[in-house]
Amino acid sequence: MKKIGILTSGGDAPGMNAAIRAITKSAMHYGIQTVGIRDGFEGLMKGRFINMKYTDVDNIIQRGGTLLGSARCIEFKDKEARKSAVQNVKDAGIEGLIVIGGDGSFRGAHVLAQEVNIPVIGLPGTIDNDLYGTEATIGYDTALNTIVSAIDNIRDTASSHKRVFFVEVMGRNSGFLALNSAIASGAESVLIPETITDIKALAEQLRTQNKGRRSSIVIVAEGDEEGGAMDIMRKIQPHLEDFRLRTTILGHIQRGGSPSYFDRALATRSGVMAVELLMKGISNKMVGIKADELITVDLKDAIEKHAIPNLEKEDILKKLLTK
Ligand code: F6P
Repeated sequence: MKKIGILTSGGDAPGMNAAIRAITKSAMHYGIQTVGIRDGFEGLMKGRFINMKYTDVDNIIQRGGTLLGSARCIEFKDKEARKSAVQNVKDAGIEGLIVIGGDGSFRGAHVLAQEVNIPVIGLPGTIDNDLYGTEATIGYDTALNTIVSAIDNIRDTASSHKRVFFVEVMGRNSGFLALNSAIASGAESVLIPETITDIKALAEQLRTQNKGRRSSIVIVAEGDEEGGAMDIMRKIQPHLEDFRLRTTILGHIQRGGSPSYFDRALATRSGVMAVELLMKGISNKMVGIKADELITVDLKDAIEKHAIPNLEKEDILKKLLTK
């Protein structure tokens, strides 16, 4: 193998740069040239390729975002539209591809691998942590830390003003960020898409636990079936008319910033492993992590199955409430 391609796709995640660095440097170590593809599958279709130099990836391990750019490319679902990507890969002499992204990006990688007949490896890069088969995705740990630190700030002002805050965190289809940030920030309650939200019961709980206390924080996953934090506040208001309610939507703050130790290390180890898998001719695998060991997961499983957070963690929050 002489040349491999690398792209980042979907929502960016802190640690993607660390992965790009590890792939480029380790490939070079093995005498392989890395081709950086700009803006995900969009760049693949348009032939926006860069021959990566060692120095291109110096001093980027600490940077958030992705140096290659990312995109959500709907067009790539269309076989006709993909033909240009297939041709570009062949013309550039790319013999293996590493895709860093979420399940949507892996779907694109999976079909492309068949159409060009080259091996493809996926690295899980998403703050949502919703990929089946791995304990952690690149970017998740950093996003959690960002959320927890934001909630610490909200707690200061919430208790100064005796307010109940509904804080919306990302997770379109998944409650990983909400559930784990709720535990670590000392939130009183959490609403996630994986469990049923009962607005009336939540109102009663807030009323009981708020006695003699100065603040309550409810973390709302954006994908909760009752809606985001604004919807929840609107729905609960009639039950808590005497309460001071506020909403904060953390938004894209959660996706940026310098990656944590954990994400840098995960991205670096996974990047090197991805290159070595391609060299062995292994294809259609995602690199995951379990008990600090890197593992491989069938790309098909990562695409078709959905990861669910440990729902017992919700009970932990309940066990900390006053009766
Ligand atoms: O990358 C995943 C994610 O952060 C989801 O949690 C969120 O719903 C979505 O991306 C937002 O995407 P965009 O930046 O395209 O609006």
